[in-house]
Amino acid sequence: MPHLAARNLTKSFDGVRAVDQVSFAIPDGAFLALLGPSGCGKTTLLRMIAGLEDPDAGELLFDDVAVAGPRGSLPPEARRLGMVFQSYALWPHMTVRGNIEFGLKVQKLPAAERRRRIEEVLEVVGLSGHAARRPHELSGGQRQRVALARSLALRPRLILLDEPLANLDAHLRETMLAEFRRIHSMTGATFVFVTHDQEEAMAVATHVAVMNRGRLEQVGTPEDLYRRPQTESVARFIGRGRTLPVEVIGTQDGLCTVALAGGVLKVDGRAPPGPGWLCFHASDLAPAPPHGHFAGEVVNQIFQNGVYATELAPLGIEAETIGLALPDRLAPGTRIEVRLSGGWVIPREAAVSPAFAAVPPVRSPA
Ligand SMILES: Nc1ncnc2c1ncn2[C@@H]1O[C@H](COP(=O)(O)OP(=O)(O)OP(=O)(O)O)[C@@H](O)[C@H]1O
Ligand SMILES: [Mg+2]
Repeated sequence: MPHLAARNLTKSFDGVRAVDQVSFAIPDGAFLALLGPSGCGKTTLLRMIAGLEDPDAGELLFDDVAVAGPRGSLPPEARRLGMVFQSYALWPHMTVRGNIEFGLKVQKLPAAERRRRIEEVLEVVGLSGHAARRPHELSGGQRQRVALARSLALRPRLILLDEPLANLDAHLRETMLAEFRRIHSMTGATFVFVTHDQEEAMAVATHVAVMNRGRLEQVGTPEDLYRRPQTESVARFIGRGRTLPVEVIGTQDGLCTVALAGGVLKVDGRAPPGPGWLCFHASDLAPAPPHGHFAGEVVNQIFQNGVYATELAPLGIEAETIGLALPDRLAPGTRIEVRLSGGWVIPREAAVSPAFAAVPPVRSPA
């Protein structure tokens, strides 16, 4: 039984679909990252899960029970969830203890239980000993931990986090990501974490949902998205993947036989015969003299991490440049043969989505 599920969830503002027929299901205790470019509908989806926004159509289910849908919706306070925002939203005049205690008082918990829970959550977020401080006496990371502690004190089953690390510097973001992972596994609560940072999503989540212009492109484990993308835009977005047009000749036992640049090769995938995309990353390519799967011309190289990150224009294939790592410096225009190990084939029908197509060409090995 999925813990959190959406069925064709839709929400429009002024006739524009902010969230467009989104469906997914995640198990109890999952850490779901909602990933996508600015304006793709992440916050709107999160606000519908929270009950701060009602869907125009579709259904939202907690443990197979509808909390929003055609038969009305459950108010936020009845959904047993906690929310953490980018801006922390702490009360500046209250101490850390006061901020955490507030919600517990609203729930009319007795003083002894409130004290116990405050100590417990401060311990979980690593802030025991900071209970008497006010928000302005804390660092950004500590404030974000107080915000999380305040949510955790209410023992929610579901914690919703909207870009909680956006206000922190890169180093602190990394530390806090590790903290979120630790706290997630300690509490067993389900986390839904909004981010537009792919590395953040891939590092922290058990499941990643890639959104684009209100639609959900794919939900899967980080490895699924990287190795088995379902659409061309996901293939090109995750890990700076690259795609080449191929003709699928046949499929058997999870292997596709594809025609590429006058040759034939077998690649993982389940695409039916017809036009397809061959999806891969820079690390799947290696030079293979004298004959590889296809040839390309060196466009540009930069020395990076001990190798020459090379941009290659494939020959006889209508495609943009692709990236691979080479051991040596080669003059622009040099022709080399390359071999593909790995990769994944999908049908070509899915159109390139402009938001993701704007990702710059690969310049370094993935
Ligand atoms: N209350 C609102 N009224 C009108 N339009 C809205 C409202 N909330 C969101 N939108 C629009 O819906 C779309 C999705 O917005 P949303 O805030 O969900 O995006 P997002 O993915 O969270 O973006 P970001 O990464 O910038 O936070 C946008 O086009 C936005 O302008
Ligand atoms: Mg947002």
